[in-house]
Amino acid sequence: RTVYVNGEYLPENEAKVSIFDRGFLMADGVYEVTSVLGGKLIDFDGHAVRLERSLSELDMPAPISKDDLLEVHRELVRLNGIDEGLIYLQITRGAPDDRDFVFPDPEKVTPTVVLFTQNKPGLAANPQAAKGIKVISIEDIRWGRRDIKTVQLLYPSMGKMMAKKAGCDDAWMVEEGKVTEGTSNNAYIVKGGKIITRHLSNDILHGITRAAVLRFAREAQMEVEERSFTIEEAQSADEAFITSASTFVMPVVEIDGVTLGDGTPGKVAPRLREIYLDESL
Ligand code: PDD
Repeated sequence: RTVYVNGEYLPENEAKVSIFDRGFLMADGVYEVTSVLGGKLIDFDGHAVRLERSLSELDMPAPISKDDLLEVHRELVRLNGIDEGLIYLQITRGAPDDRDFVFPDPEKVTPTVVLFTQNKPGLAANPQAAKGIKVISIEDIRWGRRDIKTVQLLYPSMGKMMAKKAGCDDAWMVEEGKVTEGTSNNAYIVKGGKIITRHLSNDILHGITRAAVLRFAREAQMEVEERSFTIEEAQSADEAFITSASTFVMPVVEIDGVTLGDGTPGKVAPRLREIYLDESL
């Protein structure tokens, strides 16, 4: 495939980043994942706005304008013939001459910008959505600025591995007894028709899919409550689900071995998935 690195479109095996890049040495970088459906970018604006915020929270200059970024996204979709899939974007603080904890002078070191596509035919028609996924709970031991979408993904990767080892699909992270979010998604439960999801703070990523899904839910006269909840409350809920750019709305049917309701995705999550996909296409 053709990828983008610092202003150039290149075959993936010719793309290079320095070994001194702070993304590589210090996880000093931010990222975004935007989905593509029918060749169209989903919620590009939301991702671009969150990216700007992640950069500014880390005192990193924005090395590319929103318009240029949109152009690069579109060009990669075109060059790689993506109908359904994802676009991964990463910006790191760049590569100084040597390893140093101190940030390099932004006048001397420019950020590294990398984008690549992931072709995922059948992303919208994912058969898993009809069955739902199983999750385990794990302690949330990540740093305190989860609202910044950094590339520090070691603990979320470990969480996915723990889930896999337990025969499950994902892990919900718990802090002070309350669910924060999934390893790479936001977490929800449904009780008596009401959609409950953790309120926004530095404790979770402010999901772009979350914002869209909550807006569609309210427009469809569904009740939404933004508050934290425990694993026990989730286990006795009628339904549960996750949202992200790569899964859209995905029902959860089991939490720590406890089956939710009748073990099927239920009504609310599948309806929200349908609305989300309809509105996005
Ligand atoms: N992850 N919470 C976390 C910790 C995430 O990593 C993500 C996204 C989300 C959902 O955000 P959004 O709806 O904007 O995708 C919530 C992406 C998909 C990833 O890491 O691949």
